Amino acid sequence: MKSYPAVIKWSGSKRPVAKQLASYISYGETYFEPFVGGGAMLPYSLCDKGMAGDIIPELIDLWNAIKNEPYLVADEYQIRWEDLQLNGPDVYYKIRDRFNKSRNCHDFLFLTRTCVNGMIRYNSEGNFNNSFHLSRPGINPDSLRNIIEQWSAAIAKFTFRNCDYRELLSEVKKGDFVFLDPPYGGTKDRYTHTPFCLSDFYSELERLNSIGANWMLTFDGTAGDRQYAYAPPQDLYRHKFEIYTGNSSFKKVMDSKKETIQESVYLNFKPCHNLFDL
Ligand SMILES: C[S@@+](CC[C@H](N)C(=O)[O-])C[C@H]1O[C@@H](n2cnc3c(N)ncnc32)[C@H](O)[C@@H]1O
Repeated sequence: MKSYPAVIKWSGSKRPVAKQLASYISYGETYFEPFVGGGAMLPYSLCDKGMAGDIIPELIDLWNAIKNEPYLVADEYQIRWEDLQLNGPDVYYKIRDRFNKSRNCHDFLFLTRTCVNGMIRYNSEGNFNNSFHLSRPGINPDSLRNIIEQWSAAIAKFTFRNCDYRELLSEVKKGDFVFLDPPYGGTKDRYTHTPFCLSDFYSELERLNSIGANWMLTFDGTAGDRQYAYAPPQDLYRHKFEIYTGNSSFKKVMDSKKETIQESVYLNFKPCHNLFDL
């Protein structure tokens, strides 16, 4: 199976380990991903159908545009990128102001590709507030066009929905598979600025177990000397292993010191060994 470069860059992306994680999955009828973010796992799903959701509306608009109008997405990026090359950083700030009024998904893609370290950051009023990455011109439009076309084909079987994870999970049936990559327990969501409630989340895991759906959860772990030890109760899962997910982009921004992140992977089923070339 081929590898996919990121189409939507997302901090906390599972891209470095997506293929490996996907090779352990026991796929069922429908694949669910209720915290989709940059969707690193989507292209590797072996299910015939998929449902993906996220709390951020412009992100879901962008996923739908990549799926349904890939040429328009590529053209819109190219227009903004060429303007940036001609007229400099003012173009970025003009687009950022416009985005904060309209939430246009094409502006959103451009911002994610040209902001500092690709970090999607909103202030307490919900406005995108990261700055322009001065030393980087943004991905070349021809390269991005090629990536968008690959992804558009890979996600054709998915339905994207802007909703809370519980709403998407309410559609899961016996024999479906759910991939869960929520915000770290206790941390505030960057968009809603509300803390992620672990007890609600564990109730959902319990409900999925009772339905007879398989799930894989990536959670807690360590980054450098910080610990995010929010392990789910042991009676909820059957298997656990550790995985290295790469370097912390947050830490890179803060003091340019690199640190590796280790995450725990929990499964409520016995891991498979799908034949992917890793
Ligand atoms: C760690 S990121 C997922 C990254 C993704 N697996 C990837 O590879 O790019 C978690 C995502 O959950 C979303 N999120 C946070 N709270 C949510 C909620 N209550 N319901 C749905 N999505 C939520 C965030 O907007 C974010 O995109």
